[in-house]
Amino acid sequence: MNILTIETSCDETAAAVVTDRFDVLASVVASQDELHRRFGGVVPEIASRAHLERILPVVDQALRQAGLKPEDLDAVAVANTPGLAGSLLVGLVAAKALCVTLDVPLIAVNHLQAHIYACRLAAEKDVFPCVGLIVSGGHTCLYRCTGPLDFELFGATIDDAAGEAFDKVASMLSLPYPGGPSIQRAAEKGNPKAYRFPRALLGDDDVLDFSFSGLKTAVRYKLVGPGRQDFSQIELAEQQVADVAASFQEAVVDCLVAKSMAALRKMGLQTLCVGGGVAANARLRERLAEETARHGVELHIAPIRLCTDNAVMGAIAVERLRAGLTENLDLDVYPGVVRATRAC
Ligand code: KG4
Ligand code: ZN
Repeated sequence: MNILTIETSCDETAAAVVTDRFDVLASVVASQDELHRRFGGVVPEIASRAHLERILPVVDQALRQAGLKPEDLDAVAVANTPGLAGSLLVGLVAAKALCVTLDVPLIAVNHLQAHIYACRLAAEKDVFPCVGLIVSGGHTCLYRCTGPLDFELFGATIDDAAGEAFDKVASMLSLPYPGGPSIQRAAEKGNPKAYRFPRALLGDDDVLDFSFSGLKTAVRYKLVGPGRQDFSQIELAEQQVADVAASFQEAVVDCLVAKSMAALRKMGLQTLCVGGGVAANARLRERLAEETARHGVELHIAPIRLCTDNAVMGAIAVERLRAGLTENLDLDVYPGVVRATRAC
């Protein structure tokens, strides 16, 4: 079977063609980074308008890459939760239109489950049950994943997502958007111990939540002082930028690693799967590898190309299809995080 997967939950317009044997026949990602760069973050209205312009050319390109005609498709899958409402709607409407025209089933994809499924795809073996850490621009969540479609939320950020903090701190340091890769690059020459930034909610292993807004504020205070917002007046030496970037990155990584290990202990699991844009971070990958090796935990981090948003991870649709989970045309978008999902 050939399945077209569509992903428009945030600011990447993506389409892929995968088979029910997990062969990837095509993958196209149209990034909107340049449209959002001057705002230092994703502007929802700009994102949905850009999706509208790009969705059909992106689907077209995916079909051409796969060497298929629309009639060769056996199903269409689309991420309908969580994400920006307007962005999700563009993908959903496109998917529904294709399903009606081609008379094929519609499959709903949970974007966070798909981020974890990227680990399953790369491992080419079963990775469940596992703790799933999803760490991206919009989400920072810890799930107990008993199967590819069975997720239960155990912890989440109570304010900003980790990626959001990377993007905002990069903007304070006048580093280009998206902030994650810029901070990582700057941090390579920095001292992670130069500044002692706060690690919120650490120390209590029963709490599996995260908080990054205080860390953001601590960086701001360090740079411009309390109550001041204007970064245009400050001039930082290259080494200072590197030191702030490295110290900030280390604080985020400390929290993500500590809470993931606490979640494994609490849930009595021995496998950790990590996905989402921030999972591309080299320091996070390095620290997770060290810590899981020390505790005999099996670690699966999505390969870099499948960390940031893409449609290949929508291959989780194959699992839904096998479980007989297809949708009616009244399928809607759900912007918020679903706390628990069951494949029945
Ligand atoms: O998963 P994703 O593409 O989109 C969402 O679903 O949000 O994640 C995007 C986020 C951005 O905040 C970006 O700065 C961050 O992932 N990111 C990184 C790295 N690469 C991307 N954060 C830290 N280090 C990186 N290397
Ligand atoms: Zn994502």
